[in-house]
Amino acid sequence: MNTDMSKTQTNNIVIFDTTLRDGEQSPGASMNLDEKLRIAQVLEAMGVDVIEAGFPIASDGDFEAVSEIARIIRNSTVCGLARATRGDIERCADAIKAAPRGRIHTFISTSPLHMEFKLQMEPDAVYEKVKESVTLARNLCDDVEWSAEDGSRTEHDFLCRCVEAAIDCGATTINIPDTVGYAVPDEYADLISMLFNRVPNIDKAIISVHCHNDLGLAVANSLAAVQVGARQVECTINGLGERAGNAAMEEIVMALKTRADHVPFTTGIDSTHIAKASRLVSTITGFNIQPNKAIVGANAFAHESGIHQDGMLKHAGTYEIMTPESVGLGKSTLVLGKHSGKHAFSEKLQALGYDLGDNAIKDAFKRFKDLADLKKEVFDEDIIALVDDEVVRVNDRIRLTSLEINCGTVHYPPKACLALEVDGESKDCCSTGDGPVDAAFNCIKELFPHSAHLQLYQVHAVTGGTDAQAEVTVRLEEGGKTVNGQSADTDTMVASVKAYINALNKLLVKREKSAPSALSA
Ligand code: KIV
Ligand code: ZN
Repeated sequence: MNTDMSKTQTNNIVIFDTTLRDGEQSPGASMNLDEKLRIAQVLEAMGVDVIEAGFPIASDGDFEAVSEIARIIRNSTVCGLARATRGDIERCADAIKAAPRGRIHTFISTSPLHMEFKLQMEPDAVYEKVKESVTLARNLCDDVEWSAEDGSRTEHDFLCRCVEAAIDCGATTINIPDTVGYAVPDEYADLISMLFNRVPNIDKAIISVHCHNDLGLAVANSLAAVQVGARQVECTINGLGERAGNAAMEEIVMALKTRADHVPFTTGIDSTHIAKASRLVSTITGFNIQPNKAIVGANAFAHESGIHQDGMLKHAGTYEIMTPESVGLGKSTLVLGKHSGKHAFSEKLQALGYDLGDNAIKDAFKRFKDLADLKKEVFDEDIIALVDDEVVRVNDRIRLTSLEINCGTVHYPPKACLALEVDGESKDCCSTGDGPVDAAFNCIKELFPHSAHLQLYQVHAVTGGTDAQAEVTVRLEEGGKTVNGQSADTDTMVASVKAYINALNKLLVKREKSAPSALSA
């Protein structure tokens, strides 16, 4: 782990992941505490230097998530976000206090547009806030990052003044966000160079970049800035983030790795963890990855045309600039059959990166046996879906006990008969609907009346073939809060109903916590 000052002189790039903060600000991408902890552990295992775990003042849930992540993460720096106010900064310091390495990230807007309309403050007052906020943060934590929100649209003289003051007051990292994704690479690189040329104490801090992807240039802008001296890149898994998202970590890491001849910088990321992290974030948020997405899209390593396939057979380098293995996409291996034992199964889980307790292995093994009875071939992806499905179901108040569906051309209208256990009490009913999914969801509403709106219903086949498991995501919204429910099953209808029930269970937990409405940065 190195976020110390000597990095400005090195070619190592600090990877600052903000999936859990900026990423979670994507509409619909909300994650619960368990999900955030799982993502944080995967980020730590892959070698992320700094994990931005949340915005502690935003809600009690955010505070709890940052505190828990600070408690369990040992190797990465755990960072919390704070506006330039005493309340935010003190709450943030409190949330990160258990971390062996904690960071307060405080920010304020510096562009004329933001200062006039968003903050309604004069530049001099903003300048005073920069000094006050960084000084306060530095009194509470040795590692302080200061960000100039909308930095790429800030007047240069004012930006230099603020950066110099922030460093004087003790900021150890200075972040220059392209908040609205407006910059183009040479212009953004010039801005960073300008700071290196004009800010007298610039060598006392690490310069960081945080690029949004509104013009599809977030990664290009980040790399351009690295080439002129930036040594921290802020990014997210799968490029998740506000609007068009943030710079995608997997793209930054693989660009540096693959083009080390031209961009000679290293990161501490073990790129073989990329596929797992990408899948986990996509499953938890319900944000599917486009098939042609660089590095992690389903087609990123697929070669369809005859000419390409012929070239690949002669020499992989003809059309492949990096190997699937380098991002953790080993060949989709046929795993265990229905005669495989528990020992082989738990070894497989370990190889896939799961470190489960005895009881969880026992439950997963039973489900694996059931699956192996249904499905001829069980692949790594099936095991991952099965374990992920198990992990999301803890302390559920609502459980599915049985489901029967009539649909097709004969049975009209489609009808579902469903039995649930709600807080230990059995209930059942039958309903009709526009289709089998609608009929089943109507049953759930009858047995457990609620006013949540269905925002997303998404089905994805885990592997090929008609016996593939269906992985379903259901997003529900209630009072401005969203939750994503997931489930996987060889029966699409069972997976759909379980995903809906999973979302409802999460909503119930959210209701119990009933946090004040979240802020965003
Ligand atoms: O995009 C942005 O400016 C931010 C800051 C809070 C760093 O997310
Ligand atoms: Zn941002």
